[in-house]
Amino acid sequence: MNTWNYGYFTESTYTYGYYRELNPVFQKFCLLAKSFAAPEANENENYCELGFGQGVSLNIHAAANLGNFFGTDFNPAHAAHANELCSASGSGGKFFDDSFEEMLNRSDLPRFDSINLHGIWSWISTENQKIIVEFARKFLNPGGTFYNSYNCYPGWSPAAPLRELFVLHDKYAQKSKKTYERVEEAMKFTEELLAKKPAYFGRVPDVAKIFESTRKHDHDYLAHEYFNRDWICMYFTDVVELLEDAKLEFTCTAEVVEALEHLSIQRDALDFLNQIEAPVMREQVKDYFINRQFRKDIFIRGARRISAYERITRLMNTNYVLMSTDPLPEKFQVAVGEISLAKDVCDKIREHLASQNYRPKNFSEFLKKNQDISAQNIEQILIILVHNGNVAPCQPDAAAKLVKPKCDALNKYFCTRAKNSGDINFMASPITGGGITVNRFEQLFLGALADGKKSANTIASSIWEILSEQGQALLQNGKRLETPEENIAQLKDMAQDFLDKRLPILKALQIA
Ligand SMILES: C[S@@+](CC[C@H](N)C(=O)[O-])C[C@H]1O[C@@H](n2cnc3c(N)ncnc32)[C@H](O)[C@@H]1O
Repeated sequence: MNTWNYGYFTESTYTYGYYRELNPVFQKFCLLAKSFAAPEANENENYCELGFGQGVSLNIHAAANLGNFFGTDFNPAHAAHANELCSASGSGGKFFDDSFEEMLNRSDLPRFDSINLHGIWSWISTENQKIIVEFARKFLNPGGTFYNSYNCYPGWSPAAPLRELFVLHDKYAQKSKKTYERVEEAMKFTEELLAKKPAYFGRVPDVAKIFESTRKHDHDYLAHEYFNRDWICMYFTDVVELLEDAKLEFTCTAEVVEALEHLSIQRDALDFLNQIEAPVMREQVKDYFINRQFRKDIFIRGARRISAYERITRLMNTNYVLMSTDPLPEKFQVAVGEISLAKDVCDKIREHLASQNYRPKNFSEFLKKNQDISAQNIEQILIILVHNGNVAPCQPDAAAKLVKPKCDALNKYFCTRAKNSGDINFMASPITGGGITVNRFEQLFLGALADGKKSANTIASSIWEILSEQGQALLQNGKRLETPEENIAQLKDMAQDFLDKRLPILKALQIA
């Protein structure tokens, strides 16, 4: 029995996810969109992630940003993996396998400008939550950011008893079986119970639907999400009150579209909210209106507001990059329903960002040339496009240039790893300071390009060599392609599509 894990689920390691909410460039964009001052990136900034899992996000951010990166995850397998990525990039990150308590007591840490935890808070004990607050109190600089994501009420209220059922089944019925079996049995038990129509589930009509979507997750995810000893769901106001001890103040969420309140909440709800004077109460009531289940909050130790003029000027002077060669969508799904954006303005924005081979650009010159379009209009469209992932905010050119060698080294490692494994589907962009989804085949195509293969034909043949050596083959309509010719023909089509549509963007992002 482990003694170091505080009841945290450590029998299987965590997934290889990447989260843009942890990217300092993205966080600064969220803050700016809500008129909060965010410092320019600089080489002396100190960043810390608590509970970094496999360390994919942390390593991508350490490679793609200026500053010094620190982090901890008490699972030594996670820390070892994070350190492997760290050696690959040469970022110089300091990633430990300390518990939060050990991290708090270290005497070799600097003061941080940014402390981050994603997917931690709801799955640790009250004591560990207090340790994290104390960590922020002791180590966060004035003006520093604190990012925290967590399960919240009221959105979780119908499903919280489901989670309790899984854990109770695990506690009382499990007989030291493997993770997969324990999770599977708890799921089966719940399924059977639901079929007997207990009154609780009848009264809360969404529970069956929630269970169905829960069941679709893989067993590792389910184990980490639901089978920890601790699972503490909170109201926003409870978290705010705890973090007050570290002098932290709520600023905004990393759901950046929420900066545009008229799109994230219905008009009559907004009128109601606007009568509430206390900002914390207003934000809490918003969770009732949208039935929020998960929050991604950015706090600041000493938040400073900037004027609307400064916000717009800074947003217009920020560089942006398109994330796809496809046309921009004509309709967007936001909380208030489906919206369409002014097509003529969107077309001009896309044309501007696509010019000069998709090189990142700001909107200050654009505005001078297009006097019929207002900065406010562009600001709104950019926020929606960033939220939707069509466009990403960029860091200044000088910073991108400095971090490029670290990104190149990490990306080379990812492309080599893709030969054997499809587990990490992200690469580091010096332009956005963050991770970009690049799947295994795209990583293999990039690897082949770096090895001097230029045409779809030569790329396809070289990748077939890698796959066939491992007894792997492609699938078409769910059927394994058997002959080398069939596989190479499909790889060639995929490679051509990649060269035409994807490569231009990966070049603009300086991943290729
Ligand atoms: C749900 S995972 C999230 C990982 C990562 N932040 C992500 O979102 O991909 C939580 C992580 O926190 C780590 N963890 C939990 N309790 C901890 C503690 N007391 N000290 C250090 N790490 C802890 C676990 O090992 C696990 O990797």
